[in-house]
Amino acid sequence: TTVSPYVNEPFTDFSLEVNQKALQAAIAKVKDELGREYPLRIGAEKVMTEAKITSINPGNLDEVIGYVSKADQALAEKAMNVALETFETWKKVPPQERAEYLFKAAALMRARKHEFSALMILESGKNYVEADVDTAEAIDFIEFYAREMIRLSEINETQPLVKIPGENNRISYIPLGVGVVIPPWNFPLAICVGMTTAAVVSGNTVLLKPASTTPVIAHKFVALMEEVGLPAGVINFIPGSGAEVGDYLTTHPKTRFISFTGSKEVGLRINRLAADTVPGQIWIKRVVAEMGGKDGIIVDETADLDAAAAAIAASAFGFQGQKCSAGSRAVIVESVYDQVVDKVVALTNKLQSGLPELNFAAGPVIDKASYDRILDYIEIGKTEGTLLAGGGKAEGNGYYIQPTVFGDVGGKARLMQEEIFGPVLAIAKAKDWKEAIALYNDTEFGLTGSYFSTNEERIAEALDTVHCGNLYINRKCTGALVGVHPFGGFNMSGTDSKAGGYDYLLLFTQAKLTSRKV
Ligand code: SER
Repeated sequence: TTVSPYVNEPFTDFSLEVNQKALQAAIAKVKDELGREYPLRIGAEKVMTEAKITSINPGNLDEVIGYVSKADQALAEKAMNVALETFETWKKVPPQERAEYLFKAAALMRARKHEFSALMILESGKNYVEADVDTAEAIDFIEFYAREMIRLSEINETQPLVKIPGENNRISYIPLGVGVVIPPWNFPLAICVGMTTAAVVSGNTVLLKPASTTPVIAHKFVALMEEVGLPAGVINFIPGSGAEVGDYLTTHPKTRFISFTGSKEVGLRINRLAADTVPGQIWIKRVVAEMGGKDGIIVDETADLDAAAAAIAASAFGFQGQKCSAGSRAVIVESVYDQVVDKVVALTNKLQSGLPELNFAAGPVIDKASYDRILDYIEIGKTEGTLLAGGGKAEGNGYYIQPTVFGDVGGKARLMQEEIFGPVLAIAKAKDWKEAIALYNDTEFGLTGSYFSTNEERIAEALDTVHCGNLYINRKCTGALVGVHPFGGFNMSGTDSKAGGYDYLLLFTQAKLTSRKV
């Protein structure tokens, strides 16, 4: 069978009332289903535990999204055994057939797109566009990785090994084993789906430990995979605490790889724990970690200042700045500093806070811990720079924080160095474009960045010297598209992996060379 070429899933145009109505109908439907209990999934078994994770709407704290069963170490061990056993059969399923499950899943998710988005709006606090883009990215990951597995399986035909007389040589990308997949809550569908399907289509079996703030949307994805007939035990769903289940599985001798997206602190901890070899372990565990960012936008005096200001506001405040790609810094050259800052502040002041289901521009942040941390950073900001917009809590029965801007922040300030993961933008002034690039580069992270300029020489130099995994010219630094902008960063931003790119499945496979004398 031939597969159609990959194309990105289109975004929904919410300026059309018919689309708004369709999403609102989906929100109403999801609301009817709130407050249910959800099981773990270990092989074919659905295990309802006494202990539950309560998932609430961060924009309306009285609304419970669902009660999700919670694994302990004994259940994690059971899931590990099922995953190990299932690996023995799943690894023998031909790549094309594995990809077929993904194609079916993508089709079904596309058909129910608004339902997935609606659930994210309620569970994670995304507005319509942010939720829609998340669902589209999830579909993209599924479609892309399915094709990637097929491509890798045909590589001996498309990119043959060097031929020598008397031998037939082939290379095949075989799976690794059982992987622990730990996705984040900020793209609670897209990244969860991408990490999981990449591992699974490569022939691995998975222990999926979703983020504890967004387990219901993760469960919805797992149920979808069951619906398309993915064999039981390929994806095992084991929500639980990081300290209990996460550490247990990270240090487990049978864990072959850990695929993690989340904070630098947790990523480094996983990397350290996974580096130790324990009795019964016969491999070096592979760690794929996509961590934080202190991303920023540089603007020089030749730039289109309106476009730059719009990109700064969009990158800083999209989904309340809760993206590893968020542009939480801006570095602006002196001669246009006041102009750009005024524009950014005006745009920021237009962002109204309110309920995600009513599609306010600024929703809540994810939970109490985030809320407290971000408010602390805002207080730190008041000592490090000039408060220009926002500066504290916003109204509402949820974790609402005003989109906040600080100006005249020094390069070494905590606001310029530490990932806040909230709606807080720090702006620094540079004497010229070279100093601006140096300020941008002066962090331990290196995920996304943008350079705004119309000067070709400077752009050429920026392309060379701005050190980050995803560098954009004259556009915002968020919103990487699968297949178009392979995504992942340098230094403390992670293990240099590129989600949605041609290298990604190599992280979940190992290459076996076979050489046969003829
Ligand atoms: N891929 C997302 C973006 O580019 C972040 O995870 O915004």
